Amino acid sequence: MRRWNIIALGGVAAIGIMGFGLSRKLRSGDFSDSPAAVKMADAKGANPIEEALLKEFEGSYAEITPSGGRVVEYEFSAAPAVQEIYPGYQTQVWAYDGQVPGPTIRMRLGDTLRVKFTNSIPQATTIHWHGVRVPNAMDGVPGVTQPAIEPGASFVYEFTPKDAGTFWFHPHHNGSEQLERGLYAALIVEEAEASPFDRELVWILDDWLLQESGQIYDKFVTPHDLGHDGRWGNLPSVNASFNPTYDVDPGERIRLRLINAANGRIFAPDFSEFGAQGIAFDGMASSRPFDPTGYVLTPGNRLDLDITIPVRLRGKEVAIADHFTRQAVPLAILRVKDADLREGQPKSPPASAKVPAWTKALEAPIHTEFALDARQGGEHGVEWLMLDPLTGRINQPTLTKGRFHRVRFSNRSYRLHPMHLHGQFFKLLARNGQPIDEPHWRDTVLVGSQETVDIGLVPLDAGEWMAHCHIQEHHEAGMMTVIKVQ
Ligand code: C2O
Ligand code: CU
Repeated sequence: MRRWNIIALGGVAAIGIMGFGLSRKLRSGDFSDSPAAVKMADAKGANPIEEALLKEFEGSYAEITPSGGRVVEYEFSAAPAVQEIYPGYQTQVWAYDGQVPGPTIRMRLGDTLRVKFTNSIPQATTIHWHGVRVPNAMDGVPGVTQPAIEPGASFVYEFTPKDAGTFWFHPHHNGSEQLERGLYAALIVEEAEASPFDRELVWILDDWLLQESGQIYDKFVTPHDLGHDGRWGNLPSVNASFNPTYDVDPGERIRLRLINAANGRIFAPDFSEFGAQGIAFDGMASSRPFDPTGYVLTPGNRLDLDITIPVRLRGKEVAIADHFTRQAVPLAILRVKDADLREGQPKSPPASAKVPAWTKALEAPIHTEFALDARQGGEHGVEWLMLDPLTGRINQPTLTKGRFHRVRFSNRSYRLHPMHLHGQFFKLLARNGQPIDEPHWRDTVLVGSQETVDIGLVPLDAGEWMAHCHIQEHHEAGMMTVIKVQ
């Protein structure tokens, strides 16, 4: 009986390199039929469609940093620790403040966060505040916004978030190893208004690739990971525990904040038993509640659900599973107490936001396009790249602060790429040219096999902002660039 076959997995031994979807087009450099090539030719200068889209954007989310709050201080380190993820096994991890996930930072909109951080792991690191619109110097990208924090060294992060919502933090250096070993935690910025929920749960989803000894398989960025969708584990976890149980009351209204901190795994958790409503995505409140059915959480994504525990489930245990892959993956159990209905709170709606429909956005010219593809080379033998389809070189675009931009990702490979932008939110506009109107912003969007995804955004903060695939192994193998906003 192989204990770690909790998820069917090819097995570590079966590692082999797969083919890459290096497209014929990139090799030949022929893009004359690309619609991007046609539209970009006349993209110079003021464009009335972009002007109209910008008008529609106005008032969507705060341009200014709120003030007048408290200073919330935390002090912790990243250090080796031991933790029981699967019952009966002591796994050596790396942890913020001695535990995986690290400490949940809670603050209110308007508060300033100050984190005095010490690096006590045996390699350099940084902290990136995923999804938080921070000043560029606090973004935690080594070599771009700060030098890496060497072992034994400290760094103070200080910023005032501009948005309330579900955020998280993790290293931005050697992420394949450092996130896999357990360096991640939630950052919750509460709305200024009182919460309409009885309870909040934060679930950080992850998966671990453990050996039969219960220790982390310690080869990272393998050819197998690079030929696939990164490192997928054999042990799923919620808050670093395998299939934990949470007690809830019938009639209780819960805000469940889901965060995917996995290196590569995508989750599609099913909450249909509870009639859950989506109320925020990637931190930002949606303009209206939405049906989360069919939503996936890629590495980096967050999804906030509004769940009222139905009285008919009184005394029952409901298994929550992930259905992204063919085989259901156990995540957690909600055990509904056999108790009387909880006193009903007035059910005020959760916070909502203005999100422009941008129905004309696909008429705007494409400002820049990232062709996503792999090629042989680099320190890992394979490079994953974000190329300019017109030149075949790494695309490092410049965007103009306060203007609308339509940006395209075209996946020339067969692998999955959850593309993440630092420093700004964007709206998904279309997949393969088919318009999509989501009632929320994002900071990470899945670009599927051979898929073309268009997004729209109005950058508000100047700086050099990373854009990368959030599959840690693709990122390590080069799938990143810097977008300059000026
Ligand atoms: Cu959560 Cu640059 O990433
Ligand atoms: Cu990728």
